[in-house]
Amino acid sequence: LKTSAVARINSAADDVEALRVKLLGKKGELTALLKGMKDVAPEERKAVGAIGNDVRQTITSLLAAKKAAQDAEKLNEQLAAETIDVTLPGSTPTIGQPHVLQQIIDEIEQHFLGLGFKIIDDTVDSPEVETDEYNFERENLPKDHPARDMQDTFYITPEILLRTQTSPVQSRALEKHDFSKGPLKMIAPGKVYRRDTDDATHSHQFHQVEGMVVGENITMADLKGTLLSIMQELFGEKHQIRMRPSYFPFTEPSVEVDVSWNEVTPDMSPEDIEWIEVLGAGMTHPNVLRMDGIDPDKYSAFAFGLGPDRFAMLKYGVDDIRQFYLNDVRFLSQFERKG
Ligand code: PHE
Repeated sequence: LKTSAVARINSAADDVEALRVKLLGKKGELTALLKGMKDVAPEERKAVGAIGNDVRQTITSLLAAKKAAQDAEKLNEQLAAETIDVTLPGSTPTIGQPHVLQQIIDEIEQHFLGLGFKIIDDTVDSPEVETDEYNFERENLPKDHPARDMQDTFYITPEILLRTQTSPVQSRALEKHDFSKGPLKMIAPGKVYRRDTDDATHSHQFHQVEGMVVGENITMADLKGTLLSIMQELFGEKHQIRMRPSYFPFTEPSVEVDVSWNEVTPDMSPEDIEWIEVLGAGMTHPNVLRMDGIDPDKYSAFAFGLGPDRFAMLKYGVDDIRQFYLNDVRFLSQFERKG
């Protein structure tokens, strides 16, 4: 039995446990042999018993060694199968970037921060869901004012609406401003809404950056200088601006501002300059200052409202405003953030 057991254990392919039961179990081969002890002569029993024990020990330790060898082999196989080659190049994760409109707004913000303006962009001081009072009445547009037609409005209730312009932020900022600490110089970027049918040049939601300076002796020259500086920041040093008379209920005088599309050089004749309209601005109407609790005899102010969407279209030659709102990565990834 010992010889045959050794051979069987050595050649056992896998099930060591089954073999153990077969050899040493209650109904196993060794047990059956030892049962024959009763037929052995009493003086020989001791020797036969010793042989039996020896066989049992040999089989037990051989089985244990076989099991250990098999386990080690299995582990090696598993390790080999699961090897990771750390020297293989990894896949590069795609890195995101701010939306092109956000990039332009960031650029505008940085410029005005440099001029000492503060940025009002939190949802408390610049809510998109506004009251009729702030969006229109405090901007010198009473209920029956015909100029309300200029801005088709999404009303939520007769008194609450989606703001059609960032101009209501002027009043909200003025209410909180402490003039003992100096003039108010602020910009307020944000989303605005108008009940337009979307097409290549209209979107029911777009962006504006409102600007306002309120202080003593603020003049139209300050307005022009400020606008020239931001236009040259966005379009380049060689571009000029021009102001044309316009109308807004909240500014008097009001202007529309054009920027030269081509670069202007000193030897150029005026007819060679190509102008494009970029924003509305003006000297704040005394009524607006009065409604905000400011004495128009003591303080004067200018304000402007510019459109980042339009800037982005001009700057990058985008011919459909809807592209900005489709969130198509193939479109957006063209505008790599500079710097
Ligand atoms: N709020 C105006 C608009 O949306 C723009 C503007 C702002 C004009 C401030 C003058 C002064 O058309």
